[in-house]
Amino acid sequence: MDRENKQQLVTKIDKDNVPNHVAIIMDGNGRWAQKRHLPRIAGHKEGMQTVKRVTIAASDLGVKVLTLYAFSTENWKRPDKEVSFLMKLPVTFFGDFVPDLIKNNVKVQVMGLIDQLPKATQKAVADAVAQTANCTGMILNFALNYGSRMEIIDAVKQVASMVKQDELAIGDIDETVFSDKLMSAPLGEYADPDLLIRTSGEERISNFLLWQIAYSELAFVDTYWPDFSGETLQAEIIEYQGRHRRFGGLETE
Ligand code: IPE
Ligand code: IPE
Ligand code: MG
Repeated sequence: MDRENKQQLVTKIDKDNVPNHVAIIMDGNGRWAQKRHLPRIAGHKEGMQTVKRVTIAASDLGVKVLTLYAFSTENWKRPDKEVSFLMKLPVTFFGDFVPDLIKNNVKVQVMGLIDQLPKATQKAVADAVAQTANCTGMILNFALNYGSRMEIIDAVKQVASMVKQDELAIGDIDETVFSDKLMSAPLGEYADPDLLIRTSGEERISNFLLWQIAYSELAFVDTYWPDFSGETLQAEIIEYQGRHRRFGGLETE
């Protein structure tokens, strides 16, 4: 895209209606690589560069939370070689990118079963979280070893245990009580995505944020993740701004 087109795209965005929370299912790394007769891991490596570009673009646009689905609880089924490459990616990614994150005031958070990750991955994640803890701009929230059914079961266990300990009456269990036990709770008022994007042409949720997307706007784009860019994000936000969110009510003009 040339500069003029880029500029046109930016000016078309309504700065007052930027989705606060954008969640992305980053899919298509393997197919991007296969199309080029490269090993799948080459796609993951390239996908990491996309994460950097899209993070800065989202932050520049005024997105408050960018949640990126990086590794699902089902992705352990992949060949060992691919899994171990994916586990090393956060080490390279944060090792390289934390200064830029700090420069852009971006704070790193994670959701998922982090303690099941290899020690070096856990350390890379913990370091990035600590190093950006004082940043007050966009939250870059990685879903890492995350699965929504696991998250919901875990929340149910927490609520059940509160009831058992007489800390909570069954009648007092409501959406707020339950949401507070989900892994998205630290995102506070932005826990639910306004816009969920999945790349690569697949049109499914793959165990991502099942509770939180009740009223999210869904966007499925054909682009493989390594080809996704700040401009693709802008185009999706413009498309989002043309939608009418009703939350079960009626349109108010
Ligand atoms: C997404 O790309 C990255 C992860 C799931 C870790 P894929 O690796 O799923 O790529 P495709 O879907 O096989 O092309
Ligand atoms: C979803 O992609 C998980 C991530 C992007 C991390 P997958 O490629 O694992 O999903 P399926 O298997 O095609 O549903
Ligand atoms: Mg995939």
